[in-house]
Amino acid sequence: MANHVTLTQFIIEQQRGLKDASGTFSMLLNNIVTACKQISHKVNRGNLIGVLGSADSENIQGEVQKKLDIITNDIMIEALNWTGHLAGMASEEIDGFIAIPEQYPKGKYLVLFDPLDGSSNIDVNLAVGTIFSILRCREGVDAELDDFLRKGTEQVCAGFVLYGPSTMMVLTTGHGVNAFTLDQDIGEFILTHPNMKIPEETSEFAINMSNQRFWEEPVQRYIEECVQGKDGPRGKNFNMRWIASLVADVYRILTRGGVFLYPYDLRDPNKPNKLRLLYEANPMAFIIEQAGGACSTGRERILDIKPTGIHQRVPVILGSKNEVERIVSYHLQQ
Ligand code: F6P
Ligand code: MN
Repeated sequence: MANHVTLTQFIIEQQRGLKDASGTFSMLLNNIVTACKQISHKVNRGNLIGVLGSADSENIQGEVQKKLDIITNDIMIEALNWTGHLAGMASEEIDGFIAIPEQYPKGKYLVLFDPLDGSSNIDVNLAVGTIFSILRCREGVDAELDDFLRKGTEQVCAGFVLYGPSTMMVLTTGHGVNAFTLDQDIGEFILTHPNMKIPEETSEFAINMSNQRFWEEPVQRYIEECVQGKDGPRGKNFNMRWIASLVADVYRILTRGGVFLYPYDLRDPNKPNKLRLLYEANPMAFIIEQAGGACSTGRERILDIKPTGIHQRVPVILGSKNEVERIVSYHLQQ
């Protein structure tokens, strides 16, 4: 490909346009990129290096951990804790938040991440990913809980890396969405999908149908109308996809439109929602909105939620704008 633009070049050039950018953010992003390249390598090597399978442990959220959940979490922490750019971190795999070790300087950002999203797919060789969200923090201090509990609108950057047939990074800093493909030969992410935009109209939905009996009425209505296809009120046929990796489902929606729902459900009254706000829903919502889509719980814009806990879960409905607005209107009509 002629005129390669690397991710590093792209970020540095974008930061140059901002008046008080010090270069710290570009360096932080580079550290995240380095971690994701290491994760890509491990995921790709799979059982050749013995990283597949269960770790025989549970994370703080009661989910069985895969070996790679632990390995990727360690890679992220070790790539970031020494840099001096961070005041703290939060990870799906760690209770509470992660303090920066005493011996390192503290910086002005927080990184919140899901090191291996969709990890139930890892042993069947399907796509998984890393999701991250960057917030600003008070400078030079150890972050406290309240520093993390910020609305999604305050994110300065959100991204995810999809470890699929190609390894891709999707990124927003609030100026649109760009995607980069890892060129394994030179070890660099190259800009391949500039300014991604989600089509407003779609006829594809993604939901785990096995939970249908636990959904609320507005979601029942929406899916029922899609399934009725040409013979129903929508007057057109719909297609369904469910990869069970948020990263892969979101990437598909970014490329060809669609809507994704992990709605409120009544399966387990102690756990009515699945996806985590701070390192799954918020970064995806920032990306989806920046690409012209919408993201809601059904009753509230995701990015407007005031968080109450680091590992808080929320209903997620995201994707093509017109469909998300329709689903929200069904909730409001209740
Ligand atoms: O991280 C949670 C997650 O793995 C998402 O990536 C995915 O969208 C969802 O859970 C799949 O859930 P289920 O196994 O219920 O289909
Ligand atoms: Mn996840």
